[in-house]
Amino acid sequence: MTVKESVLLLLEQQKGEFLSGQEIADKIFVTRASVWKAIKALQSEGYSIEAVTNRGYAIRQAPDVLSSVMIKAGLKEPYKSLEIKTEKSVDSTNTKLKYEVDLIKEKDMVLLAEEQTGGRGRLGRSFFSPNGTGLYMSLLLHPQIANDQGGLLTTAAAAAVAVAIEKISGESTQIKWVNDIWMRGKKVAGILTEASASLEAGHLEYAIVGIGINVIEPQEGFPEELQDIAGAIFSKDIHRENLRNQLAAEILNQFMEYYKHLEEKPFLQEYKKRSFVIGKNIKVIKANSSRKAKALEMDDSFQLKVQYEDGSIETLSSGEISIRL
Ligand code: BTN
Repeated sequence: MTVKESVLLLLEQQKGEFLSGQEIADKIFVTRASVWKAIKALQSEGYSIEAVTNRGYAIRQAPDVLSSVMIKAGLKEPYKSLEIKTEKSVDSTNTKLKYEVDLIKEKDMVLLAEEQTGGRGRLGRSFFSPNGTGLYMSLLLHPQIANDQGGLLTTAAAAAVAVAIEKISGESTQIKWVNDIWMRGKKVAGILTEASASLEAGHLEYAIVGIGINVIEPQEGFPEELQDIAGAIFSKDIHRENLRNQLAAEILNQFMEYYKHLEEKPFLQEYKKRSFVIGKNIKVIKANSSRKAKALEMDDSFQLKVQYEDGSIETLSSGEISIRL
């Protein structure tokens, strides 16, 4: 933990109370000058920290800035040891983790960014990732699962995101098979899971689960081409301290619970009860084509049974559907 992170944690733990520079310095074994420097840096990031002679420093208000310390503060005990990194701007958190896989070796880690300049979605699409209003988070994992079970990471993540959003917002969510989370008729989140499989061993070497969420509606709104499709959890005027840090922590707590017993699918019911495509007319989208169909049912392996207009039936284990005809 850096000095700045340690100072922030101490002030947040005793929110509203004054701590003298010397007290802080003693607790984290640094000089008072380093504490002062850290306070200045936090203030310049938007933290409202009051400084009073002979009393010290007290944190009044925290901005909604991504912070690994604040995310960790919200994690349940077994997950506090997760390595979490935040960045101001990256091309894509999935891509960055992919480059770092070899350096990180077997370690799991989580990377978040305030913005992505080349955020990626499924089927080669881009994922709109403006600064400061979304949650762009990737988890690098080394699951001990067979190659054909990799899809469970996506469905577990979808259920975890849905449950976490509901906890934070108090509103209900829906899941559009297989990886989209919707609220009020619009997509607010998507998941892109990428994996490297060992064909000889038959199991995954690693997987990167990328989660993108429109947390707050961007000040300038969504680009025109997304306006009918994309929504956000909160409107522009929301001001909540540590909002995205809390959401990230909720998602990680929930996801890691599911991940522990991934193949037992403890998230099946949470996923199923939010799934809203069954009985609907849909379009099944494949590489270069799309076909009208009806979604008949989803089984306990998250496979979607669809019937095309010519009466033929297909069971989809992954892929993309649209409910806009
Ligand atoms: C989709 O809706 O098609 C999936 C969107 C996934 C977006 C997330 S944001 C974090 C991670 N980094 C990326 O480039 N993509 C995923």
